[in-house]
Amino acid sequence: MSSEAVDHDAQVASVREAFEREFERFALFRGEGGADGLALAEAEGLLRELAELRTRHTSKKSPLAQLMKLVGRVPPDERAAFGQRVQAASADIAARLDEAHATLQAYVARLLLERERLDVTLPGRRPRRGHLHPITLMRQRIEDIFVSMGYTVEDGPEVETDFYNFTALNIPELHPARSPQDTFYTTDGLSLRSQTSTVQIHAMQRRRPPLRVIAPGRVFRRDTPDATHNPMFFQLEGLLVDRGITMEHLKGTLSEFVRRMFGPETRTRFRPSYFPFTEPSMEADYSCFKCGGEGCRLCKGSGWIELGGSGMVHPNVLRAVGVDPEEFSGFAFGLGIDRMCGLMYELDDIRLLFENDVRFLEQF
Ligand code: DAH
Repeated sequence: MSSEAVDHDAQVASVREAFEREFERFALFRGEGGADGLALAEAEGLLRELAELRTRHTSKKSPLAQLMKLVGRVPPDERAAFGQRVQAASADIAARLDEAHATLQAYVARLLLERERLDVTLPGRRPRRGHLHPITLMRQRIEDIFVSMGYTVEDGPEVETDFYNFTALNIPELHPARSPQDTFYTTDGLSLRSQTSTVQIHAMQRRRPPLRVIAPGRVFRRDTPDATHNPMFFQLEGLLVDRGITMEHLKGTLSEFVRRMFGPETRTRFRPSYFPFTEPSMEADYSCFKCGGEGCRLCKGSGWIELGGSGMVHPNVLRAVGVDPEEFSGFAFGLGIDRMCGLMYELDDIRLLFENDVRFLEQF
């Protein structure tokens, strides 16, 4: 064997070795089941890499192709033997590539087929049906009663200017009534409304009296959460403005409301109070729906439960929206929806209403 022939053999061997090194990670994908356990995306990725490997080792510019070109140039007596070795190497490489390809390809096809298989006899998964939140249920009950008395449901923004939350409601800057209503402020003069009384102003501007509206919604206060407080809670505001409205209308309306809400034997009681936007102002109570007024744990032994604040609309509030207090008068009231929820469902902590725990919410 001439020295040149040895060189040629070494070249064939080195081409094979270079291929084997890279092919090693594909070598186990042989025969049926050779690719089992791979994820679909993995197998698809390997197929792509295998195609690249094939290009690198068998294309026209590959070292193998260079060897083939060399065959014609070796001395005639060595040509046949060298040619055979190169052919054998080429056939081997192609065969190994084909086998790995076939195994991976078959595997991918099988996974795709399995993924699309449908067992129409399997029982369906029953969708979990939701339901309304207890606060929404309570809000709708209250709304229904007032709507049946001719009230319209109004909406107002949760982010407010000082005018709507305070000034127009007869609470000027530095007035002490601002502090229990301390809320969350932005740096550019806006704040989260601390009461739904803001909607009194919006509604009168929008509709002009005579009007009857209720406005349920979220309000916000700078408050530390505990079993009976939350920095965000729900109120429902009521406002009626017309000619010749007196305190009797207010008392009659709230008395009728509690009778429809808690039962026909429910009684009301009104206590003098103070709110800047009403004059005179009252606190309304109703007889406990649990003990009927005897006194129990729910009403803390008093027989009465607080309904909310109310009163005759202050002339300054009417003036703030350009309504003449000589011509029109009205009454307003504000109820706490979550507080009512807490009492009716006897919750020991109103924060439960906002924790979104299905084990709690499922019970309503
Ligand atoms: N806005 C009052 C509050 O948040 C509740 C209230 C009291 C509303 C008296 C009224 C009212 O409309 O007349 O404490």
